[in-house]
Amino acid sequence: MATYYLEPSRTFSEFLLIPNLTTKECTPANVRLKTPLVKYKQGEAPAISLNIPFSSAVMQAVSDDGMAIALARCGGISFIFGSQSVADQAAMVRKVKGYKAGFVVSRSNLTPEHTLADVLALKEQTGHATVAVTEDGTAKGKLLGIVTSRDYRISRDSQDKPIRDFMTPFASLIYGQSGITLSEANDLIWEHKLNCLPIVDERQCLDYLVFRKDYDAHKENPLELLDANKSYIVGAGINTKDYKERVPALVAAGVDALVIDSSDGYSEWQRETVQYVKENFDVKIGAGNVVDREGFLYLVESGADFVKVGIGGGSICITREQKGIGRGQASAVMEVVEARDQYFKETGIYVPICSDGGIVHDYHITLALAMGADFVMMGRYFARFDESPTRKLRVGNNFVKEFWGEGSNRARNWQRYDTGGKSGLLFEEGVDSYVPYAGTLQENLDKTIGKIKSTMCNCGATSIEELQRVARITLVSATSLVEGGAHDVILKESSLSEE
Ligand code: IMP
Repeated sequence: MATYYLEPSRTFSEFLLIPNLTTKECTPANVRLKTPLVKYKQGEAPAISLNIPFSSAVMQAVSDDGMAIALARCGGISFIFGSQSVADQAAMVRKVKGYKAGFVVSRSNLTPEHTLADVLALKEQTGHATVAVTEDGTAKGKLLGIVTSRDYRISRDSQDKPIRDFMTPFASLIYGQSGITLSEANDLIWEHKLNCLPIVDERQCLDYLVFRKDYDAHKENPLELLDANKSYIVGAGINTKDYKERVPALVAAGVDALVIDSSDGYSEWQRETVQYVKENFDVKIGAGNVVDREGFLYLVESGADFVKVGIGGGSICITREQKGIGRGQASAVMEVVEARDQYFKETGIYVPICSDGGIVHDYHITLALAMGADFVMMGRYFARFDESPTRKLRVGNNFVKEFWGEGSNRARNWQRYDTGGKSGLLFEEGVDSYVPYAGTLQENLDKTIGKIKSTMCNCGATSIEELQRVARITLVSATSLVEGGAHDVILKESSLSEE
């Protein structure tokens, strides 16, 4: 006989937080949102923590290298989409790791024998105005000079002119020595009114470039998520099919954390994938998605460093309609958290939980955290920003951004849904859509984080761990949902409905 769960499964919208005493010390300025990304033993520190509990979804329309840099700068992590070639995904990871928060590996490089035509073609291709001239034309070769648009006149100079005849030669350059701090580099930039400072080692080989504009960005972001080498931390999505080719390339590119991206993670395919990664590489790996205790324990016992929770709640997801599997996101999180806490009591190992999909309002994030999730993963939320890799279009007087599911025909990410049969699927599990354009990641995150911190103060908590301990959460009735919005008034046209 089938097993029945006759309690309805719940969504975040069916819950509210009840305030606790707010002490005078409990102010938004005192709230810290640091949270573990990967499992750790009681009393030890996790190998990777996030500075804000946000991750961006493993989706073509959300997480490329640009989003990864922007989100790491704010303290969160992106998992770069895996529904692309191994080489392309590894190149995106490499770009993020090369970004170096102020120290940039030069991406436009030529030799002195190249010509002005080569400089112009490279500029057109990369958009970079500064070209490093090195002996072998590589980013780490012996630096012989720099070319910027101040070094040539397109109208006068012959396109065949070799770079050696018009570059600013090394002898005339202001440069820094490897090991210099960002703040020392910035002093040189200011002192000499430079836009770009090359950093070279003792053999005159180029190490990095420091740009004035990057320094300004770096200074404004105290929460940025950095590894021991001061590179941004980045994740990548993998699947249970081609992991033996994909994982080695991602690890070689410097990825910090992998996650198996699947709509249903309670499978032997996931166990094999996690075990392969654990046996062969020193890299963190999350698994999922699951919605219950059994699925969670299966993945943890397989070796997963964190577990992703959620089936069918994503904004573009039609899995529940198509296949009839899934569970209300709040119920799924609550059950998995209970299993995690019990596992922690029994083993002393804390396994972080990611609530993935279905965040509609900012307060849903606070609820997910209060219910015991350690961080959330969002697609729709991030797709709305300038930094997402999709087109911004005008519809009437409004702007929208394109947003499509990984299970849609457009993404063709069948590995995410394949359960081991012949490749390819007969039906879609996601839609192709638009989301309202919302501006920059930074401005939206500031607002969302402001709301989360403020709610945490209402609940008397200054950390996520404390919120999880003290939160009081109530179910709401269908009628009180109406009471929760503006009601029984005539809204003025200028009233803004916010996230
Ligand atoms: P959102 O934050 O509500 O937009 O949900 C994003 C999540 O939806 C992702 O992290 C995935 O877990 C899931 N997802 C992405 N693409 C699809 C799809 O095509 N079908 C079903 N779920 C999807």
